[in-house]
Amino acid sequence: MAAHRTRITIIGCGHVGTSCAYALLQHHLAREIVLIGDTQNLVHGEALDLQQSVPLGTPLKIFAGSYKDAAKSSIVILTVGTPGKFSGSRLDMLAGNAVIVRSCISKLMAEGFDGVLLIATNPLDVLTYIAQTESGLPLSQVIGTGTLLDTERLRYILGEKLNVDPRSVHASVIGEHGDSSVAVWSAAQVAGIPLAQYPGAETLPSQEELLTIVRGAGPEVAMLKGNTCFAIAACVTRICEAILRDERSVLMVSTMMTGQYGLNEVSLSTPCIVGNCGVETALELHLNEVEKKALDASAAVLKHAYSQLT
Ligand code: 2OP
Repeated sequence: MAAHRTRITIIGCGHVGTSCAYALLQHHLAREIVLIGDTQNLVHGEALDLQQSVPLGTPLKIFAGSYKDAAKSSIVILTVGTPGKFSGSRLDMLAGNAVIVRSCISKLMAEGFDGVLLIATNPLDVLTYIAQTESGLPLSQVIGTGTLLDTERLRYILGEKLNVDPRSVHASVIGEHGDSSVAVWSAAQVAGIPLAQYPGAETLPSQEELLTIVRGAGPEVAMLKGNTCFAIAACVTRICEAILRDERSVLMVSTMMTGQYGLNEVSLSTPCIVGNCGVETALELHLNEVEKKALDASAAVLKHAYSQLT
């Protein structure tokens, strides 16, 4: 892949796309941000609005561009999707969003894109699988934002309830970014102390209740304000940072399983080493029997959803 170009393109200029642009701008990660969307005036307006904040930050070019411009990016972020459809299962959006995502990928690849493609459109894992199998890019260069968001939600909730900085909470959610996500309780800890032994852990809701809160967090926000955008934008920014700075950070992102957990031909989240080329290694956690069964069920949900797509 062509490396060291610090242009990021965002395809999709709705709440998620523009929040990503603003978050990326604040983090000074790229020298150029290209915006692509359906409504030219709107995209141009978003680009102008963002440009006008540049003098207070780091010099940066932001413009409404084309797929030709996108092809010269280190990272292209897909946030496209049918608006206003998130009221329950993300899988309900598959048929509509698959058409949109396939069309974007084909236009992007026709221009010779060879960077990292980051999928943030739901249903995240199935669309990541489609992008991985249909784009022609190496598997490592196609990433889904996955359960990084669910993991951050779980860490936040545990931090709040235990009255400790959520950055000191290490608890992972893997599998589908959606209703079959799996919390890896067997490895959860706070600053090296197993979660169950941490002071105050006895006051926590049950594991089932906590996972229900995590799974319901996106739908709850969407019900209250009509969409979710800031938390996902933070996840997108964190992944871009790991890629552009070649950090080799371990992040919960969606990638194709190639034998991990005995799974194949399905994209879902597991801890991955993320660096300049995208997902460098998809790691495998040591799950207990309950967690392994739940992950198998999550993979089955995703495979079934894909099989229903015509
Ligand atoms: C979220 O969980 C909608 O998947 C998005 O915020």
